[in-house]
Amino acid sequence: MGQMFRSYWIPALLAEELPENDCPPVRVKLLSERLVAFRDTDGQYGLIDEFCAHRGVSLWFGRNEQCGLRCSYHGWKFDVTGQCVDVPSEPDGSTYSSGVRLTSYPLIERGGILWTHMGSPETRPPLPEWEFATVPREHSITTKRFQECNWLQALEGGIDSSHVSFLHRGDLSNDPFFKGAKGNQYNLNDLRPVFEVVESPGGLYIGARRNAENGNYYWRITQWVMPNFTMIPPRGGHSVHGHFWVPIDDEHCWAWSYEYHPTRPLNAAEVAAVRAGKGIHITYEPGTFRSAANKDNDYKMDRAAQKAGKTYSGVEGIGMQDAAVQESMGPVVDRTKERLVSTDVGIIMARGRLLLAVKAFSEKGIVPPGVNPEHQRVRSAAVILPPDQPFKVAAAGALIAHPAVAPASI
Ligand code: FES
Ligand SMILES: [Fe+2]
Repeated sequence: MGQMFRSYWIPALLAEELPENDCPPVRVKLLSERLVAFRDTDGQYGLIDEFCAHRGVSLWFGRNEQCGLRCSYHGWKFDVTGQCVDVPSEPDGSTYSSGVRLTSYPLIERGGILWTHMGSPETRPPLPEWEFATVPREHSITTKRFQECNWLQALEGGIDSSHVSFLHRGDLSNDPFFKGAKGNQYNLNDLRPVFEVVESPGGLYIGARRNAENGNYYWRITQWVMPNFTMIPPRGGHSVHGHFWVPIDDEHCWAWSYEYHPTRPLNAAEVAAVRAGKGIHITYEPGTFRSAANKDNDYKMDRAAQKAGKTYSGVEGIGMQDAAVQESMGPVVDRTKERLVSTDVGIIMARGRLLLAVKAFSEKGIVPPGVNPEHQRVRSAAVILPPDQPFKVAAAGALIAHPAVAPASI
């Protein structure tokens, strides 16, 4: 799976983490590989091996100066491609440095995110086309949180929309990104959604059907695009959101959370709400991407709020509720002990599709779904349909990103 992840452009850093030329370098661990990101004097981004080619000192201590990162130990200098450009202890005229090169990966900015491709340059796909990253900048904000569990069990929370009626119950009527939507009532009134999951070109459409008026159905259709992109169905006129679940190593991941509207800028209240940790976003331990509520403080469990029904779990905030329950399963949940039920069909099918893709990729070199930008131009949707209409057909137009067309939302 780790090898297959190298087929994709994945989010590596927020652009704001490297705010200016020659700013401090940032440590980045992705797919169990330790790297350092920096922005050079000319504004070029680099993502290179964290450890110096001389004797392995971390280049995080390096000096970012004159178009390169210079190791603090003996001054070897590397450019954004990982090429060693100076070994100052060697005699004048020495060409020794030209034969020394660190592993490096591209780092490109799109939608306020720095993306990397950790596969071989020959297989580098076209740049990512996710709608949240291609709308005008003021239409979109992305945050990230460090999460202490495997990426896949976190992702499984992103495609399991049956938990919303329970875990997030208390927040649907209060949270600024959820409240006021008519769809909330269907969520709260029907706790037995019927799931219909069908394959999409890049992954799955996960349809959750709840009863609406006059025998019609309220459908919430979540997008999962392989391997790690999920998009939550919209509510009313609110901005749309979802996640990228990026492996740091087997036991940690980055939960990236994007918030955007396809046809309008986010307003000041929405921007403030993201910064205040509302919706799927969180608040942080100062100076870090770790949540302020975390396992060391029992996620600031509030039993009184839980008893009063203010929150279902006693944890405050939708994003934190997700993080808390996903981490509580342990770093890698033991799936041999699970008891899956009909509302888990999205998870079952996603696992099946991942396993098939890994097999095809590793045995035959087949490019996995989701690499093609065509697979990335998708939208989630919330719609009311008559009972005899399959959502894949009736909502087909709503499941594709059409610039300047509002999302299908209730
Ligand atoms: S270890 Fe980096 S220059 Fe010596
Ligand atoms: Fe959730």
